[in-house]
Amino acid sequence: EIVILPDAQAVGRAAAARIAAVVRAKPDAVLGLSTGSSPLGAYAALRERVDSGALDLSRASGFALDEYVGLPAGSEQSYAATIAAEVTGPLRMDPARVRVPDGGAHDLEAACADYERAIRDAGGVDVQLLGIGANGHIGFNEPTSSIASRTRIKTLSERTREDNARFFDGDLEAVPLHCITQGLGTILEARRLVLVAQGEAKAAAVAAAVEGPLTAMVPGSVLQLHPAATVLVDEAAAADLR
Ligand code: F6R
Repeated sequence: EIVILPDAQAVGRAAAARIAAVVRAKPDAVLGLSTGSSPLGAYAALRERVDSGALDLSRASGFALDEYVGLPAGSEQSYAATIAAEVTGPLRMDPARVRVPDGGAHDLEAACADYERAIRDAGGVDVQLLGIGANGHIGFNEPTSSIASRTRIKTLSERTREDNARFFDGDLEAVPLHCITQGLGTILEARRLVLVAQGEAKAAAVAAAVEGPLTAMVPGSVLQLHPAATVLVDEAAAADLR
């Protein structure tokens, strides 16, 4: 399902409505959480629902998609810090039920296996919120990622590091080289996928993911394999759709 909405705010509201519907049906739903700028409108719209009492996320749990490897402990650029500031706190989720891959683990491979196990033990993700990189990545599954991949250590592409330098005061050197990300195979096991994209910088990636061939060069194209994937875009991000 592809829905073209007038603006970024409408994209956020539509994503929040879909997530809220899942939680209404299942108050202890497992939410797949994304970071970066794309999901912020969805989180803001969810917060309005929580603040008005229309939505209760206190029994829901969450799993973030990815995390940088090697940031100093407590770094505000870490996705653990982002999830705490933008999701757990404002949406009044129980921090004990929200996990982010451990990018500071001594044994990173064990941390990846542990994360996969935790998702499985929680019963799998009910609804996964996704953004898409300008190069077509989802999570940090960069182009060439295997469609069957699981949570693992990845090297960030130069393009992604440049795009994300804005979160590090523009200092490319400060952007980590590696990350832990849920794999494409992991993401595809979520029961529902909701991808949000806003702005013209995402137009080519959205068109390639949705209308292009299924290819490891455009990791977002794996959404075509999923039986319940929704893509919510504003008009600018929809500009290259046929
Ligand atoms: C973040 C993530 C990434 C971002 C993507 C778009 O958890 O998994 O795939 O969704 O890099 O980033 P923004 O939204 O900042 O343009």
